[in-house]
Amino acid sequence: MTTLDNTTVTPVVIGAPRGGPDAPTLRQDRWWIQPLVTVTVLTVFVVYSTWAVFVNKDYYVGIAMHRDLISPFYSPCIAGSCVAGAKGTAIVANWWRITPALIVIGGPLGFRLTCYYYRRAYYRGFWQSPPNCAVADGHRRYTGESRFPLILQNVHRYFFLIGVFFNVILTIDAVMAFRMPGEGGIGVSVGTLVLCVNAILLWLYSVSCHAARHLCGGHVRTFSTHPVRYRLWKLLTPLNGRHMQFAWASLIFVALTDLYVRLVASGTITDPKLF
Ligand code: FES
Repeated sequence: MTTLDNTTVTPVVIGAPRGGPDAPTLRQDRWWIQPLVTVTVLTVFVVYSTWAVFVNKDYYVGIAMHRDLISPFYSPCIAGSCVAGAKGTAIVANWWRITPALIVIGGPLGFRLTCYYYRRAYYRGFWQSPPNCAVADGHRRYTGESRFPLILQNVHRYFFLIGVFFNVILTIDAVMAFRMPGEGGIGVSVGTLVLCVNAILLWLYSVSCHAARHLCGGHVRTFSTHPVRYRLWKLLTPLNGRHMQFAWASLIFVALTDLYVRLVASGTITDPKLF
């Protein structure tokens, strides 16, 4: 290390490990805050959602409370073990006796796990690969996603379609949340708004997905011959730029939605009718 006119210069070797053991980074800012927040939020979400999936109760507020609210973790409720009222019109697993959330959680989970943004976030946060820009990797070797098992992340484009399917279901749930049996038939409660905001955030997360943008604008050599796809691509591109924000907002809100439904269903709080 040499000093020239109060400027510290560190020699750089092309191809050398980034930073080296004594100097993992030259960054002076608090670069560790970002991966720390990622690990904290994702850990809290995983712990909470695992508990919510396996607790198998208080996921539906039904006619006895004059509402029709279902937790997003349990929808569509298609198992024989679903509580009365929460069951969808198509029970495809009548023989299923354990928590019905286990049947449906794989779709949204796969969509999030393979998301390009989350991959960056949890590779940085949990695997330190690398923890942040211009910070040395936590591992000696970097193999990327070119071999098993990480090459399977390429299925994201198919999980996108599964994610859209769940968005449709949760949008129907949000519409059903306007039902107030025994209280005028129809109305708006805090629970209605919670389910609506949840559905909107999930749609924003999905349409801002890189796979969605590629579906519109990918493989198009000349936009002038594909005006509809060009318009869609133009529409989605600014949303795509906010994908990170939608990813966090929708993740946190889906857990809050489950929590709200759970608190109402268990009788801990009541769901106030607004009008
Ligand atoms: S890139 Fe994040 S959902 Fe597709």
